[in-house]
Amino acid sequence: MNELDLIELILHETSGYVKAKYAGRTRLRVQEKNGANDLLTEVDVAVQSQIVNRIRHSFPTDAVIAEEDGLDRRPGAAPPRCWVVDPIDGTQNFLRGLFPAFAISIAFVRDGEIAAAGIAMPVTQDLYLAERNCGATRNTQPLQVSRHADLGRARVEVDFSLPDDRGATLETLGGVLHAAGQLRCEGSAAVALCAIASAEAEAYLHVGLRPWDYAAGQLIVEEAGGTSSRLDGSPLRLFDAQEGILVSNGAVHGALLAHLSAPHEPVHAPE
Ligand code: IPD
Ligand code: CA
Ligand code: CA
Repeated sequence: MNELDLIELILHETSGYVKAKYAGRTRLRVQEKNGANDLLTEVDVAVQSQIVNRIRHSFPTDAVIAEEDGLDRRPGAAPPRCWVVDPIDGTQNFLRGLFPAFAISIAFVRDGEIAAAGIAMPVTQDLYLAERNCGATRNTQPLQVSRHADLGRARVEVDFSLPDDRGATLETLGGVLHAAGQLRCEGSAAVALCAIASAEAEAYLHVGLRPWDYAAGQLIVEEAGGTSSRLDGSPLRLFDAQEGILVSNGAVHGALLAHLSAPHEPVHAPE
């Protein structure tokens, strides 16, 4: 079984489990990680353990980086073979019943380059898959990003994340918030990135994401014809210790970078 086949198998197995747990979400054990807005459920931990066990069974010497259980240490240099896992991206949505904006995200990375990726949305049972240079699919149907190039009509996904990041978000993304045609705050990086790959949105920006939040989504968007970068336009690399990301359909990328680099005036409400 190759890496993409394993990702697909694991996502099939775990998304049924997560869907069942979602139905009983009010009875789950929940704890705070870094304060009241950063929560961890027993499902995050159980799903990650299922995923990691499966990977280690098939590829015992591969590195695994994952959000929970002490596997979140980012390597200084890219390991030759590495898996990057977010067991549930959008835990707040999962707990609050915001259907279906949470996802399971798995990427396989070879020498620092994302080679295969999958994202499952348990409620709808949608499955997004991508392999480097082979395209991206949703439920086996090929994906293609939108061609919209006018930022003033574009749908831009922005995440405000935890309170500590809000100042940086408003400061850094202020020009974009003003210029974008429509704004949406999904609460799950993986779901937002799948929306770009599916031509439902044109761009996604975040000032503070970790590799497991975006690794799979980055490849899915790129293989659907989109583009990614850091907020300064430099290449988006998983292990470069930076956290700002811009992922788009490509057509609006330049306009977004121009807004990010331009000094902007504070935004006032119209008289
Ligand atoms: C979070 C989501 C959210 C983003 C946060 C992430 P989690 O992941 O992707 O949209 O704004 O920065 O931490 O905690 O739900 O896995
Ligand atoms: Ca996440
Ligand atoms: Ca998570």
